Amino acid sequence: MGKAPAPWGRRLCAVTGNRASGGYRLFSLLDRDGPEPRPGQFYMLATARRWQERGGRPFLPRAFSVADADPEGDGLRLDFLVEGIGPGTDRLCALEPGEEVWVNGPLGNSFSDPGRAAGAILVGGGIGVAPLALWRRRLAARNVPARVLLGFRDEAHSGGLDDLFSCCEVGLASDDGHVGHRGYVTDLLAAMLEGDDAASAAVYACGPPPMLDAVALLCGERGVACELAMESPMACGYGACFGCGVPKPGGEGYLRLCVDGPVVRLG
Ligand SMILES: Cc1cc2nc3c(=O)[nH]c(=O)nc-3n(C[C@H](O)[C@H](O)[C@H](O)COP(=O)(O)OP(=O)(O)OC[C@H]3O[C@@H](n4cnc5c(N)ncnc54)[C@H](O)[C@@H]3O)c2cc1C
Ligand code: FES
Repeated sequence: MGKAPAPWGRRLCAVTGNRASGGYRLFSLLDRDGPEPRPGQFYMLATARRWQERGGRPFLPRAFSVADADPEGDGLRLDFLVEGIGPGTDRLCALEPGEEVWVNGPLGNSFSDPGRAAGAILVGGGIGVAPLALWRRRLAARNVPARVLLGFRDEAHSGGLDDLFSCCEVGLASDDGHVGHRGYVTDLLAAMLEGDDAASAAVYACGPPPMLDAVALLCGERGVACELAMESPMACGYGACFGCGVPKPGGEGYLRLCVDGPVVRLG
């Protein structure tokens, strides 16, 4: 088990596994020195070797949600689900066991308890399913009822299901209809919330911005508590560079998503 508090400096962690998970990669690190992460938190990651391969990119580390964490040996196994979309993610997708990764974290805030709600509804889109996997496990360990709705664009842009959500029932949607409901995952959420009142559930969502907007609207109309795990490009991850600013939802000013988020509570 990791030790508190979260370290400021980066540390090296060994890669213990890396496998395909649908169209994504799921890799594991052994963290011997960090504290246990809370669901929704993220790490800044950079490989120890060959990080600046493509014309010097990526120069900076990249942010990744922790998808699972479990005590293993003399440390903590951290799992990350990654979609290769550029130089940093492509390099992480190609990690081999025994390689090392610079790790800074866990960083940011985390999902909060459902409170007065009867249970949780977890809504994930694409690679945004990652932080919801750890949250579902933690809720299950505390016997908090959780329903899971996941949506993917197509087969190539989907993953994590068998590896991270195998022991729970999942409502599925896909834009191209290759699995589950043909359409958006928010269609499933709308049906689930139909006729429900504010106390029926607390909704936790992570996914592309249009999906988060739709979730916020559906929950706002019904007064349902809602937390969104958001993304913005991050350079430092701990509040120093002001590069991750996003407008405060429904308010004036900006949030530094790395310290005021990545989980943003609405309402
Ligand atoms: C808190 C947080 C958690 C994240 N968790 C995961 C995760 O679990 N798995 C995963 O695969 N990815 C995750 N990401 C996204 C990941 O950090 C980016 O995809 C990554 O930085 C891209 O780096 P790259 O060098 O591969 O590509 P780049 O060349 O840096 O980026 C490729 C494209 O994506 C855009 N982009 C890059 N980062 C972001 C961002 N954060 N938000 C919006 N657009 C962006 C760029 O503008 C560019 O168009 C997370 C991001 C944040 C902020
Ligand atoms: S990433 Fe630097 S302030 Fe948020």
